[in-house]
Amino acid sequence: MLFKQQALLRQKLFVLGSLAIGSLLYLVARVGSLDRLQPLCPIDGRFGPRGQDEIPLRALQFKRGLLHEFRKGNATKEQIRLHNLVQQLPKAIIIGVRKGGTRALLEMLNLHPAVVKASQEIHFFDNDENYAKGIEWYRKKMPFSYPHQITIEKSPAYFITEEVPERIYKMNSSVKLLIIVREPTTRAISDYTQVLEGKERKNKTYYKFEKLAIDPNTCEVNTKYKAVRTSIYTKHLERWLKYFPIEQFHIVDGDRLITEPLPELQLVEKFLNLPPRISQYNLYFNATRGFYCLRFNIVFNKCLAGSKGRIHPEVDTSVITKLRKFFHPFNQKFYQITGRTFNWP
Ligand code: A3P
Repeated sequence: MLFKQQALLRQKLFVLGSLAIGSLLYLVARVGSLDRLQPLCPIDGRFGPRGQDEIPLRALQFKRGLLHEFRKGNATKEQIRLHNLVQQLPKAIIIGVRKGGTRALLEMLNLHPAVVKASQEIHFFDNDENYAKGIEWYRKKMPFSYPHQITIEKSPAYFITEEVPERIYKMNSSVKLLIIVREPTTRAISDYTQVLEGKERKNKTYYKFEKLAIDPNTCEVNTKYKAVRTSIYTKHLERWLKYFPIEQFHIVDGDRLITEPLPELQLVEKFLNLPPRISQYNLYFNATRGFYCLRFNIVFNKCLAGSKGRIHPEVDTSVITKLRKFFHPFNQKFYQITGRTFNWP
C-alpha cells in the first residue's frame, strides 16, 4: 500500500517537474527569439529626431500583439485613447504589378515592427466611386497603428490605372512607391492563370493563353490583351514619372523574392529608411508549399494562401519566344529608367 502511494507521488512529481522544465525552456526560447528579432534600438531616419514619444522597436514588437487584437473595428474608444492608436495614411504604397508578388511583399514587410499593413486592397485611387468618398474615408480604412509606425497598403491596379499617379500625388507628393516586377512573360501567364481559375470556378470555359496573347489575323503579339499590356512595365512607369521623380520608386525583383526573399526585403528596408529588422529567422522555406513562409515568433508562423503560387498551364514555346522578343525592347528601357537590370531573356 505504502509502496503504491510512493510510486504515485513519484509519478506526480515527475509530471510536475516535466511541466516546469518545459515552461522554462519555452520562455527561454521565446525571449531568445524576440531578442533576435528586436534589439533595443530606437527607430531613426524618417521617424524624425529622437523625442519623448519615441517608442523603441522592442516595445513596438510587443505592442503588435495588442494591435492584432485591436484590428480595425474591434478596438474600443477607450483602448484607442489609452494606447494612443491612430489610423494613418500610408507612407509607402505597393502600386503593383499584379501577379508580381505584391501580397508576399506586403506580408513580408509587415514582419518589421515599424510597419503595419492594410490587409485588404483598398482600391481608393483606381476606383472612382471609392475616390469620390474622399481622403477621410481612405484613412478610416487604414489599420490602427502607433504614431511611429508606418502604414503600407497595396493595390496592384494602381500601377496601370491612368488617373492614379495624379491622385496619389495630391494625397502626398513625397509618398514612397514600391513596384514589384517579374519576368514579363511569366507574369502575363500568371495573370492568365488567375483569370482562368476564376472562370473554372464558375464552370465557364475560357480561351487558351496562346489564343489571347497572339492576334490570329496578324500572328503578332496581341497588345490589346490586358495581361500583355500590364507586362509592358516601362509604358506604365512613364506615366508615373510625370508626377514623381524616379528616386521615389523602388523596384523589387519579384522572381528573387520567391527564391531568396531576404536580400530583396533588406533593400526595401533601406529604401524606407527603416532599421534592418527582418532576418533569416523570419523566413523559412516550406517544401510542401514550395515557397518561403513567414515566422513572426516561436508561436506564430504563416504561409501565403493557396491562391498564391498556382501551377501555370503549359504554353507553346513559340508563343513564349514571341512574347519574350516583344517585351525585350521595353525591358531594356525599363532597366535604363530604373537603374535596375534583370536577366530577363
Ligand atoms: P503565381 O501564382 O503565378 O506563382 P500577387 O500577390 O501580386 O498576386 O503575386 C502572386 C505571386 O506571388 C505568385 O504567382 C507567386 O509566385 C508569388 N510569390 C512570391 N513569393 C511568394 C510566397 N512566399 N508564397 C507564395 N507566393 C509567392
